[in-house]
Amino acid sequence: MKDKIKIFDTTLRDGEQVPGCKLETKEKLKIAEKLDSLGVDIIEAGFPVSSPGDFKSVLEISKVVKNASVCGLTRAVKNDIDVAVDALKYAKKPRLHTGIGTSRSHILHKFNSTPEKILERAVEAVKYSKKFIEDVEFYAEDAGRTDNDFLALICEKVIDAGATVINIPDTTGYCLPYEYGEKISFLVNNVKNIDKAIISCHCHNDLGLATANSIQGVISGARQIECTINGIGERAGNTSLEEVVMILKQHDELSLDTNINTKLLLETSQMVSELMGMVVQPNKAIVGANAFAHSSGIHQDGVIKKRETYEIIDPNDVGVNESSIVLTARSGRAALAYRAKNIGFDLTKIQLDKVYSQFLEFADKNKEVTDSDLPNIIQLAKI
Ligand code: KIV
Ligand code: ZN
Repeated sequence: MKDKIKIFDTTLRDGEQVPGCKLETKEKLKIAEKLDSLGVDIIEAGFPVSSPGDFKSVLEISKVVKNASVCGLTRAVKNDIDVAVDALKYAKKPRLHTGIGTSRSHILHKFNSTPEKILERAVEAVKYSKKFIEDVEFYAEDAGRTDNDFLALICEKVIDAGATVINIPDTTGYCLPYEYGEKISFLVNNVKNIDKAIISCHCHNDLGLATANSIQGVISGARQIECTINGIGERAGNTSLEEVVMILKQHDELSLDTNINTKLLLETSQMVSELMGMVVQPNKAIVGANAFAHSSGIHQDGVIKKRETYEIIDPNDVGVNESSIVLTARSGRAALAYRAKNIGFDLTKIQLDKVYSQFLEFADKNKEVTDSDLPNIIQLAKI
């Protein structure tokens, strides 16, 4: 039996913090409903105190989401918590996400405070939240650069105060996978009441390690991953939902699983991309336009003979109809014959040789050869 990893989606909160990606409530509602059918366990719908618009979005999302918990972010500030509690009042399963910066840099420069006072504020915020909402997640902002002993102490105290989830954000995306994994293991082994809470990974992608760090986190004992569709988020983004979900699906030996209906990954990615006006890079893992496209002759020949020679994921599993064989000047005869046959030209070996020379001449002058170019090329070959 595989262990379940909860997927906490923060597309509508951390993801929406991307400049130019701001959404209106009705757009957020569409995404929230999509995330709910995708099977995410928690939807972080916004930061209610940050603006009246965000408050309204969290309120409306709480009304329509059927299965997932709906979560609102706060600082460790009573008024933030009051506002979030109000915004979550219609949620079937409300979760309050409160926290404070715990690294030396945050304590000294952001709060001009001391570790003792930060600890006190953290415990107070959790205790106060628990008066209204049972499910309270605590985040130790900049945990990636927080001293492990202090992090363990703060985790123990907030769990005593009632926190159900302990979020360990690598806020600046600084950690290496082994370091982040060791941090999670340290908490598993040194926080004496850790069995009363779930550890959550929240990783940023400043060094391109968000996915690797989250996976190392769950290998080390965390049971929740915070992520966004297409990996959007502050600066270089957050952990990409589709990547972590497919890694866990493809690697049976990890014995970890999620509730995500992976067949909806591509359409969810496209919806978020369109509504946020944020193009998905073509080489993006899982959902990029080239994720299942093959253009070099050697690869094409392999894929045409047996898809698995160059693909580790069945495209249908993520909602892509089929792998594509793209015709370029790097393509070989096998790809040309395959594509020509698809549009009704079953070429003999001799015919193919002739068409192939004509094809290369055309392909060298063009980035890609499309189905509509092929009849012309075949005609010019005079077969
Ligand atoms: O990156 C971060 O530390 C956050 C917290 C507010 C959870 O987004
Ligand atoms: Zn974040």
